[in-house]
Amino acid sequence: MPAHKQTSVFFGVAFTVAGIFLQPAFADDAPTTTSRSNPEIEKRISLLIENMTLEEKLGQLTQQWGGESQDVNPGAKKQALDDILGVVRAGIAGSFLGAYGAEYTNRIQKVAIEESKHHIPMLIGNDVIHGFRTIFPVPLAEAATWDVGLVEQAERIAAVEARAAGTHWTFAPMVDVCRDARWGRIVETSGEDPFLSAKMAAARVRGFQGEGLNRNDAILACAKHYIAYGAAEGGRDYNTVDLSEYALRETHLPSFAASVDAGVGSIMSAFNEINGVPASANDMTLRGILRNELGFDGLVVSDWSSITEMINHGYAADPADAAAKSLAAGVDMDMCSFSYRDTLKKSVESGRVSIRLIDDSVARILRAKFVLGLFDNPYAEPSLEKRVTLSAEHRAFARKVAAKSMVLLKNDAGLLPLSDSIESIAVIGPLAKNQHDPLGTWSLNGRDEDVVSVIDGLKQRVGDKVLLQYAQGSDFLTGDDAMRNEAVAAAKDAKVALLFVGEAENMSGEAYCRATIDLPAPQLELVKAVHATGTPTIVVLMTGRPIVIPWISENIQAIVEAWHPGVECGNAVADVLFGDENPAARLPVTWPRHVGQIPLYYNHKMTGRPPAENNRYTSKYIDIPWTPQYPFGFGLSYTTFAYANLTIEGAASAPSNPIKVAVDVTNTGSRDGDEVVQLYIRDLVASRTRPVRELKGFKRLSIPKGETKQVTFELTRDHLSFYGVDMKRIVEPGRFQVFVGPNCTTGVEGEFEIK
Ligand code: GLC
Repeated sequence: MPAHKQTSVFFGVAFTVAGIFLQPAFADDAPTTTSRSNPEIEKRISLLIENMTLEEKLGQLTQQWGGESQDVNPGAKKQALDDILGVVRAGIAGSFLGAYGAEYTNRIQKVAIEESKHHIPMLIGNDVIHGFRTIFPVPLAEAATWDVGLVEQAERIAAVEARAAGTHWTFAPMVDVCRDARWGRIVETSGEDPFLSAKMAAARVRGFQGEGLNRNDAILACAKHYIAYGAAEGGRDYNTVDLSEYALRETHLPSFAASVDAGVGSIMSAFNEINGVPASANDMTLRGILRNELGFDGLVVSDWSSITEMINHGYAADPADAAAKSLAAGVDMDMCSFSYRDTLKKSVESGRVSIRLIDDSVARILRAKFVLGLFDNPYAEPSLEKRVTLSAEHRAFARKVAAKSMVLLKNDAGLLPLSDSIESIAVIGPLAKNQHDPLGTWSLNGRDEDVVSVIDGLKQRVGDKVLLQYAQGSDFLTGDDAMRNEAVAAAKDAKVALLFVGEAENMSGEAYCRATIDLPAPQLELVKAVHATGTPTIVVLMTGRPIVIPWISENIQAIVEAWHPGVECGNAVADVLFGDENPAARLPVTWPRHVGQIPLYYNHKMTGRPPAENNRYTSKYIDIPWTPQYPFGFGLSYTTFAYANLTIEGAASAPSNPIKVAVDVTNTGSRDGDEVVQLYIRDLVASRTRPVRELKGFKRLSIPKGETKQVTFELTRDHLSFYGVDMKRIVEPGRFQVFVGPNCTTGVEGEFEIK
């Protein structure tokens, strides 16, 4: 079923609440950018292409910066709107990024429709990564909710605000899988696991693309960065990727395949090379797997100047060589390298490049514009933009997502949740009174003044009942005695000390990679000094990645990972710390004890000498434990849950019929709460070694205190299969272990056998 038909009941709620006037939904045969099913559209595309010169076609294949600002290429002249409108009028670009707002984009569209030769509308794309103006928690935090419905709805809201502001296309979801917390872009991922990443990717595509791309509440999604960008050596951005085809297919492909299955309308090719061939000209991954195997016929856009960067890679001799190779591999649109526009005419005339390839790419771009309804209704509605942007409903939902994304890592002696009757709280740290960094990276149109800071959120929660004493205590990377002593004094006077420490928004994200992923020393000294006062101390980490915190993990009584929570930061922090929201979030990444452990991930192989305490000659370190600080899928709650009665049925007729797994989960604590029930398998003996655990199912569900719920899963052929030595997916007979629990290391176990 095409994506636009897969709607969830939530959308009705979101629309009603947001008061959006919806355009009529598509008829049943709603066209998508990846199908040529609408004869009317196909006819109009052919007619346009027949009447376009080669230069005009190359204009359609070109995307450039469309914002009135210093062009992002250093030293480039400052662009004014007149320059941009000149580009539109001349038809030398078909798409812009960096253009925002209904009024501004309407001016661009007006020139495109009324003054350009073929009256082709501009396709406006932007990085709507975790919200447009209502900024949600960073994507890694959203993944920590393990709630695909919630994430889908968050992207729905992002799409509503973006389309109303004249953005038709988002360069999201970023679906890369990452096992290396040194990589700055881990913050944009859904973590280390292919299964969780695939579920989140599909949810995001559905959220962005909604019920029909020609509606004024939908935007074209773009799964990126194709492919294996998250496997950059050393966790250094843009770095070399060299991996087996097994690893490519088993770890990095599932989230893209899930995006294609969900109907994603576009794909972005990555900066990195894969086994010696750059992703933006990689015929095996682009034409071989994406187009031919997955059947993706939508739009492929390069990453920013990744085409001409193939000269740096040593894969192309010059821009003409790079452009010809990228086009041949299946990249339709050139983001900001201008090599398509500047070199392909000569390449066609010399016979190096076939005009058919160019026409195919122009057709895909025009199809996207038709399917988005831009030919029939190119304009955004300023009144709608005003009504939906940063609406109270959107903020409320952002608060809910943020509270559900915060992971309770430690809570000794139930120090949390805080009681309303507490007299005084010290609120300390560089993130305590901060309206900028909680937005996180890629905050696009988010504004500092929109952000509820931690201290303001706590104030709103406690009113004048509790004395709040604020002290910054340190900066992110520096600090001094005076700042620290002020924080110590505040902590001494208070019943509890809250420390908000971690990363600035520019310490994770693109090109923000870190060789050490510690909490910077001045902040750790601050934590130690506050802890030394003897006042009960709680550390709330706000980061874009897991950071190394051995001392804090050992000595601090309660620890929460709040990530970069977005505009509703302070309110969501208050909701969690005071227990209005019982935390249930789970880590989507393994949390290392030391950067030297990386790469560290849960679905690793057994090896011939698995680590053992009492045996030196096994796979481990002599200087630190081999285990993580916190495992994949880990997170605590203010209540407790017990797992029992695991049943496994249907193995006899598997894998042609699904295996049914059921378990009883009981809330054994004193407070209602959500539990994220996770299902893992292990294929014990196979023709290629299999990981010790593989996530194959998860459900986040609410269980009232004292109650028990039965949770069921199905294991199908797809869950049980793997790529054999001949690179074909197979299910082999043999024993499988099943684990169902609250994270990848604990829970109830069972076994079944495939005959
Ligand atoms: C960047 C990023 C990509 C982004 C694009 C447009 O370099 O790699 O994720 O969508 O350029 O901003």
